Amino acid sequence: MIDTRNWFETLPPTRQRKLLSSQRNGLNIEVGGQSLVNFASNDYLGLSQHPDVCSAAKDAVDTFGLGSGASRLVSGDSPLFHAFERNLADWKGFEACLLVGSGMLANLGLLQSLADRHTVIFADKLNHASLVDGARLSGAKVHRYPHLNLRILAQQLQQYPAKNRIIVSDGVFSMDGDTADVVSLLRLAEEYDTLVVIDDAHGAGTVGAGGKGLVNQANMMGHARLIEVGTLGKSFGSYGAYILGTASMIEGLKQRMRTLIYTTALPVAVLVAAQAALDIIKQGEVVHVLQGHIAYFLSQTKALNLLPSHTPIQPMILGSDEQALAASALLKECGFFVPAIRPPTVPEGQARLRITLSALHNRQQIDALVKVLLNRA
Ligand SMILES: Cc1ncc(COP(=O)(O)O)c(C=O)c1O
Repeated sequence: MIDTRNWFETLPPTRQRKLLSSQRNGLNIEVGGQSLVNFASNDYLGLSQHPDVCSAAKDAVDTFGLGSGASRLVSGDSPLFHAFERNLADWKGFEACLLVGSGMLANLGLLQSLADRHTVIFADKLNHASLVDGARLSGAKVHRYPHLNLRILAQQLQQYPAKNRIIVSDGVFSMDGDTADVVSLLRLAEEYDTLVVIDDAHGAGTVGAGGKGLVNQANMMGHARLIEVGTLGKSFGSYGAYILGTASMIEGLKQRMRTLIYTTALPVAVLVAAQAALDIIKQGEVVHVLQGHIAYFLSQTKALNLLPSHTPIQPMILGSDEQALAASALLKECGFFVPAIRPPTVPEGQARLRITLSALHNRQQIDALVKVLLNRA
């Protein structure tokens, strides 16, 4: 008999994911009555709690109310969307920008708009789930290449011709913290006549001069073959996402993108908060603090077997789910919040601690975490 109580199989306890009821207060997170130093947030610059960001949102709610009430193409748009799109495009060095509901919606809608069953997509094996699902939803033929392996990517490009082809990659990889070689990807794109989509959700605000991200660091911003995606839910401390590209590409997306057209526009308060965050990022101080923390953490953890990463995402592979859970529990006892990340989020046998650094941390907190990690190793 079909019944909602037995529709899903029961997962073994080590595989069960919990919605952790927690409350953040500055850098600390309260979990189960315990206050822990949070080393597991993507709020890399701590801007989600910055007074200027929060008061911008409050003022906007007072002025415009909360929900946008309709799709941007019906009555949910506002001049504030357009102003922020212009500012983001200018800061990132692209002709145009399109704001959408979230990074997940951006990638689902973007790939579905760009590709169809006659298109071939070449995707890094460790791409974020939103890119994987966007490629699936598009109906394109997808070839996944081993993580960062451009030799195999080039072979695949030779092997699978098609009129429309797209290389799709995370910029900063969300679970490994390493980075795509944007220059080489665009070189391959020139050689084999493809587009490139880079999702630099984790690079904005964290990587490169002024935190402008990986594409800017590679000096490839505005490249005519390139589309960049990013989210406002991480360094910008808010919610929503953006797509950057040429003016014609962005106009084409406005005409076709189902996750823009058939969904309620972001609340204006969320955008205004992200604009306030951009203003703070542009001043440079918070990015400088975060980048200093990353350099310091790396200098103190040479003896640890961390994955190679120069970003705020510092993963420590432990192997089995049980090992990762035990390490996470030990850190919790010592006052740190670093949950275990397990398959299917990461490949089988690569359960890990995904440590993330924030501009809100201080040296003593980093030292204390490193001490526990070194004692454990
Ligand atoms: C690389 C990457 N892209 C997209 C997303 C989704 O963004 P959002 O949280 O805005 O939906 C995430 C994580 O959340 C991510 O890590």
